[in-house]
Order: sequence, then C-alpha cells, then structure tokens
Amino acid sequence: MRKDPFKPAARVAGQKQDVWSIVNEAAASSKVSDVVNMGQGFFGYNPPQFVIDAAKGALDRVECNQYSPTKGRPRLKKALADAYSPFFGRTLDPEKEVTITTGANEGMLSAFMGFVEPGDEVIVFEPFFDQYIHNIQMPGGKVVYVPLHPPEKGATQTTSAGDWSINMDELKAVINDKTRMIVLNTPHNPIGKVFTRDELQAIGDLCVEHNIIILSDEVYDRLYYTPFTRMATLSPEIANLTLTVGSGGKNFYCTGWRVGWLIGPEHLIQPVSAAHTRICYSSVSPLQEATAIGFEEADKHGFWDETKAEMRGKIDRFVAIFDELNLPYSDPEGGYFVLVNMSKVKLPEDYPFPDHVASRPRDFKLSYFIIKELGVAAIPPTEFFTDDNAHIVQDWLRFAICKNDDVLDKAKDRLRGLKKYMH
Ligand SMILES: Cc1ncc(COP(=O)(O)O)c(C=O)c1O
Repeated sequence: MRKDPFKPAARVAGQKQDVWSIVNEAAASSKVSDVVNMGQGFFGYNPPQFVIDAAKGALDRVECNQYSPTKGRPRLKKALADAYSPFFGRTLDPEKEVTITTGANEGMLSAFMGFVEPGDEVIVFEPFFDQYIHNIQMPGGKVVYVPLHPPEKGATQTTSAGDWSINMDELKAVINDKTRMIVLNTPHNPIGKVFTRDELQAIGDLCVEHNIIILSDEVYDRLYYTPFTRMATLSPEIANLTLTVGSGGKNFYCTGWRVGWLIGPEHLIQPVSAAHTRICYSSVSPLQEATAIGFEEADKHGFWDETKAEMRGKIDRFVAIFDELNLPYSDPEGGYFVLVNMSKVKLPEDYPFPDHVASRPRDFKLSYFIIKELGVAAIPPTEFFTDDNAHIVQDWLRFAICKNDDVLDKAKDRLRGLKKYMH
C-alpha cells in the first residue's frame, strides 16, 4: 500500500504560503473592520452596460448555453480579428490565427503545454505575473529569470515606470540551445511599464536569431498612457514567432468571466488549440458571445477612449496621497497597478509579526502592518521575484487602483496615517 495516498504532486505542493492568503488573513484580523482591498487586480465596479446587456441576452439563447467549438465561438473570433487586424497591419484570419481560451491564464498554460517539453527553458522577466511560473513548470519546463532593474533614483524620487530597464547582456547570457520560449508582458504587471519599440525590437531580434517563441502577454492592451507597441507588429520574422495574449476580463472589467484569447500565425495557434482542447475542451459560451458583442460595439460607445481616460484619472486621483506624503512611486505608463516605495516608512521594531510574515522580506511586513494598523491592503511585490532578486523590491508595495473613486478616497484618508511612521 502507498505510504501517503494524499501526498500532493510536487507541481502543486508549494512550500510557501501564497501572498493572496497572507493578505486575506491579515485583512480578516485587522484593527479596521472594513479593510480597503487594493491588493488583487479585480475591478470594484461592473462592466459597461452594453456588455452586461449582451451577457443577459446571450443567456436567453439556446445555442449560447451549450458547448462552443473548442477554438471558440465564430462570432468572437471574427470580432477579435476585425478589432485587431488594424493594429496588426494585416488581415487576421479568424479561423486560423485566433483561438479562444478560458481567460488569458489558461491560454498561456495551453501555449506552454503546446510547445514546452520537459527540460526546455522558458525565459521570464522578474517581476513576473505569478501564474507564468507554475504554468511553465506543469509541462516540465524550466523557468530562467532575467530581472528588470528599478530606476536608480526610484527610492528617493517619483520616476516613470518606463525607467525600469532590461540589461540586454543579462538576457543574451541566459539564451542557449534549450531556450524554447520567452514571456513578455506589456503593459506590465506589477510595474506599469510599457516597453518601447526599441526595447521590443532588441528582444524580438534576439528571438529571431535563436528561433525562440515569444509569448507576448498584452492583457492590459487598452490601458496605456504613452505610445504602445505590439510585439507582433515589429517585423514579419518577429510576427512569425509571436503569440499575443488578450483578456476579455481585463478589457471589459469582468475578470470572473474567464474569456481570453491568443492571436498568432497558424503554426503557433494550432498546438495551443490542441492543448486547450485537452485541458478544458471549450470556454464559457454565453460570455464569449457577450465579449464578441463588446468588441463589436465598443467603438460606437467610445469605450476604448473612456476606459483609458477613466483609469488614468483613477491613477492621478490615488497617487496624490503619495505626493502629499512625499513617498516616491513608479508612475505607470499602462495598466492599473502603482508601485510605491516605502523605504521612508519605519516599522516599529517590536511589532508582533506572525512567523510566516516575519520570515519574509520587508515588503511583507509593510503590507501586513498597513493592513493591520491602517486598513488598506496592498501586495508585497517580492512575491513576483525569485529569492535571489527579491531585495530589488523589498521596500515597495503594489496598489491596484481599479476601484471606485470613493474606495480610492477612503484608502487615501487611511494612508495619511503613515505620517506617524515616517521620519
Ligand atoms: C499580466 C497578466 N497576465 C494575465 C493575467 C490573467 O488574465 P485572465 O484573468 O484573463 O486569465 C493577469 C491577471 O491579473 C495579469 O496581470
């Protein structure tokens, strides 16, 4: 008989308590009863009415409540091809170059499942969206990390998120015969950096030289406050290697709908679809239909301009508190996360941190302390780094600003309480 029939497989048996449960646990025991949650990147408000109406309408239709084709509903693939062809500068074939997935996340898992063999290496920049790591490891891939470096003056003055930089020599040094894929994220979570055309070109050229597939995670593609370049548009050679990832949840404020997609050349899309078929067969039908209608009608409603202006407005509204407190932050060029440098905040030396927080880098203590004492939850970004490079962000916290204005104002009021701990 097996010794321990309930021993989980190594791929799911994480050693550390994950950041989300640490934050939620601290929130449950905060001195403040209604903790303002600016930790996780879910929206504090509903999708636009035309998208909600589309979802309600889809539920009334028999065919929308049954299985969708494994590669996605034809209407959504067409809506995406129509919406993205102008950006890509060519006519996308909805049947061959678009595939629908259960959120961007399952789309990326399908991409790794579709291409990575045990022992293959996948390059990921730190900080990373945490799901990449496990998704790469599931098919036996090895993650190879390259850090993004913070701006030199990031601890003493507010800088642009664009000032976080890649050292191309560090990237070149990790490429070898086993390198199969590279993951890129622009606009970037958690930094808020939008990679410049030159940066993308340099990365893309390297991938062409070494035949590396590029997984370009562009889920925040409608939220940029500086010119935004899509990796797949740089050259036909780069496009030939690039899978672009999108998310209906991020585009239309409905992260719980789990509708995502990948766009790319047929030879890349086909293995992704094949993996997706085996993972979950197909994705939620009525919400695919609603997402299709969202894309069909977004321009008519001026939604893409509105979403960008609204989110930038929320960023400006919220960061005013850090200007007031004189705490430097990394001003986002895209997305809805703000990284704030808290090195000026002195934590009381005798503060009773629980062991699982005390043993983690300083950002975990900052996060715990601010939740407990002030009632505002933010995420410690060392969670998105390897242990070796965690020191890079141990004084920073990440705030998700995709919340209602009254929530942002409440958080600002509470964060004024930091004054007491600043010297
Ligand atoms: C960079 C990045 N990629 C992908 C995702 C996941 O997107 P989805 O909710 O569509 O799976 C997220 C969600 O936070 C993200 O931040």
